[in-house]
Amino acid sequence: MLQHWMAGTGRPLRGTLAIPGDKSVSHRAVMFAALADGVSTIDGFLEGEDTRATAAIFSRLGVGIEMPSPSRRIVHGVGVDGLRAPDGPLDCGNAGTGMRLLAGLLAAQPFASVLVGDESLSKRPMRRVTEPLARMGARIDTRDDGTPPLRIHGGQALAGIAYALPVASAQVKSAILLAGLYASGETSVTEPHPTRDYTERMLAAFGVEIDFSPGMARLRGGQRLRATDVAVPADFSSAAFFLVAASIVPGSELRLRAVGLNPRRTGLLQALRLMGADIVEENPATHGGEPVADLVVRHAPLRGIEVPEALVPDMIDEFPALFVAAACAEGATVVRGAAELRVKESDRLAAMATGLRTLGLRVDETPDGATIHPGPLGGGTIASHGDHRIAMAFAVAAQRAGGRVRVEDVANVATSFPGFDALARGCGFGLES
Ligand code: S3P
Repeated sequence: MLQHWMAGTGRPLRGTLAIPGDKSVSHRAVMFAALADGVSTIDGFLEGEDTRATAAIFSRLGVGIEMPSPSRRIVHGVGVDGLRAPDGPLDCGNAGTGMRLLAGLLAAQPFASVLVGDESLSKRPMRRVTEPLARMGARIDTRDDGTPPLRIHGGQALAGIAYALPVASAQVKSAILLAGLYASGETSVTEPHPTRDYTERMLAAFGVEIDFSPGMARLRGGQRLRATDVAVPADFSSAAFFLVAASIVPGSELRLRAVGLNPRRTGLLQALRLMGADIVEENPATHGGEPVADLVVRHAPLRGIEVPEALVPDMIDEFPALFVAAACAEGATVVRGAAELRVKESDRLAAMATGLRTLGLRVDETPDGATIHPGPLGGGTIASHGDHRIAMAFAVAAQRAGGRVRVEDVANVATSFPGFDALARGCGFGLES
């Protein structure tokens, strides 16, 4: 039977919370540590299903990975030329990041491999990576409609390219850069809007010479990686649900400890502040090369905004949370330029619009956005579409609902935020598993 939550108003939200490690950083840390010469330790590794799937894949590729304690991994790197052919298909689970980055890396190996994923990942577009990789000389087969499995032939000599990304995507950029590490000459990527730059920053930390600035990255093939230790900051995208929850529940005050504040991730912070949210940064520090700070959030009346389109890539994973903030604001909120939301773990524009309508709101959907008309929220049954962020967003919305909200199919929350429900209950959410 599918797991579900029953959620409804709880107490004012109070307390100090430790949010789990960043998903994007954890994927990359295990990949780059695996490719490095020497032993790397990763602290703060996200014990989510997505990132554990990536670690399991590298074990299958011959990399020794120890887990001395939860959220710590010791990775015995095999060097860029040390991966071993797997004995069967490699399962990326729900993780688009895992599959797309691995496509770039495995396309450059001397052996063949097959990448598979769960039902949601098996519907997601992969031509955005296979096309540029093919231009570099890779051979990768998808299904006719460009979806997984990815059958990677391997054994091809790759050549560097200069690639202008048609869509802003850190996953596509990263796949090309990883292939570029094995390609002849130089590989460069330019983006229509800057996206998260963890691949660039972390490759540099692993000793790779890489030139990058917002919207562009360039490296030379044939370089090696040198082992280094990685401290993973708390995931801003997971913190986002608590930022919105405390903002909309009267009497709330939460402290979220040492949250990663990479500017390419914190668009929601700016959007919430434009809406009138009361969020203060305290104890700023640098954690593994990334800016972090405690976020102290207090309840505040929110007003609707037109979300600036320039913020969209910097909050691409935060729209489910933003929709809930908008639902509880004064005045409509307009989202534009966010068509990418239709090809995430679910069609997030449709999933949020339908769910909020079930709770009694008017939401006008457009191909690349929506207008959310706030109002009193009622109860109802919400389909999460097996999408972790849709499920968590409606657990937050329920904290302001006049009735009980049943959120269906919530197991997928473990991909990015294991323990979300216990943490939420502990600080005051009305939420039963
Ligand atoms: C990610 C990039 C984004 C984001 C995803 C993680 C990454 O995807 O939505 O959750 O780690 O590079 P796109 O690159 O497809 O926008």
